[in-house]
Amino acid sequence: MDLTRYLGGGGRGSSASQMPPLVSPPPAPETERAGSSAEEPIPFVRSEPGRQDPVPDQRGPAEPVLGPTGRPMPDLPEPRPVTTHGNARVISMCNQKGGVGKTTTTINLGAALAEYGRKVLLVDFDPQGSLSVGLGLNPHDMELSIYNLLMQRDVSTDDVIVPSGIPGMDLLPSNIDLSAAEVQLVHEVAREQTLQRVLQPVVDEYDVVLIDCQPSLGLLTVNALTASDGVIVPLECEYFALRGVALLKTTIDKVQERLNPNLAIDGVLATMYDGRTLHGREVMERLVQAWGDSVFHTVIRRTVKFSDSTVAGEPITTYAGASPGAEAYRQLAKEVSARCLDG
Ligand SMILES: Nc1ncnc2c1ncn2[C@@H]1O[C@H](COP(=O)(O)OP(=O)(O)OP(=O)(O)O)[C@@H](O)[C@H]1O
Ligand SMILES: [Mg+2]
Repeated sequence: MDLTRYLGGGGRGSSASQMPPLVSPPPAPETERAGSSAEEPIPFVRSEPGRQDPVPDQRGPAEPVLGPTGRPMPDLPEPRPVTTHGNARVISMCNQKGGVGKTTTTINLGAALAEYGRKVLLVDFDPQGSLSVGLGLNPHDMELSIYNLLMQRDVSTDDVIVPSGIPGMDLLPSNIDLSAAEVQLVHEVAREQTLQRVLQPVVDEYDVVLIDCQPSLGLLTVNALTASDGVIVPLECEYFALRGVALLKTTIDKVQERLNPNLAIDGVLATMYDGRTLHGREVMERLVQAWGDSVFHTVIRRTVKFSDSTVAGEPITTYAGASPGAEAYRQLAKEVSARCLDG
């Protein structure tokens, strides 16, 4: 189901032609090309204002080295320690394009936030159930899933929540049953607020609720956006990933206007980035042109470790805790905390 139709609006702005033209940046300096690798951590270099070179430099003060998004990397503080939990920020991972890293980001950002002491609830809101499978659950073994929670008044959130295997992180699992909810909810009163209603009782037990959306802009996604304070848009760093982003923005605007005026864009996350290719750097440049400071400074590089950890049924932060992928999601957890949790 297309949200545009569902909300009764036109699909204006859905073409990629609204994006700035694809501009090739000047060739990267030799050092960048020779030095970067998909497996290397993202350079995290800051200028040191007080530092003096022993030999006066005729070229003036050193420029701060730019991060992978082409902007100077800010100094991200450690997330503030929490002593009590509650008043969770609800954040949807949303992009109607498939395979862009929504589920990977939900699992690994959640696990990284839990490492920093946050109490995290992950909501699998995709009938594919990838989030549940990615945490080692068997979709056929689930007695209760989020479908029961949405459709049966006598089922409570606590009946359905299961531990994720990561300390401090729980899961509301899903399986293919959820696809029926999309059809059945159409006939319900306040159909867009159903998820918000069922999450209400547990928001005060957690610090963060992350909702993994399905790749569509249908009623389930509208429910997720209506239940959320913020939305994170994962975007794969390849050209076609930019198509349709305008439609996603239109959808978010409509939900803001009609259902949830408090909904904010918490950030756009570049995933599967390969800075060694000109194409990767071009897409990154366009992403920053189009979304400006909404783009997280943290970038997730392409690495097979993510698929390996999915097969193992655990987050990369435990499967390969010292890997650059795990470090990237810890850095994202810091950036998300600084932007919208600790503020
Ligand atoms: N940074 C990355 N590098 C390499 N592979 C990745 C990366 N992030 C995710 N993947 C892999 O890409 C595939 C798609 O990722 P994921 O399932 O997170 O996307 P999704 O947006 O949730 O997809 P869907 O729209 O189908 O729900 C998975 O096999 C995942 O392991
Ligand atoms: Mg997914």
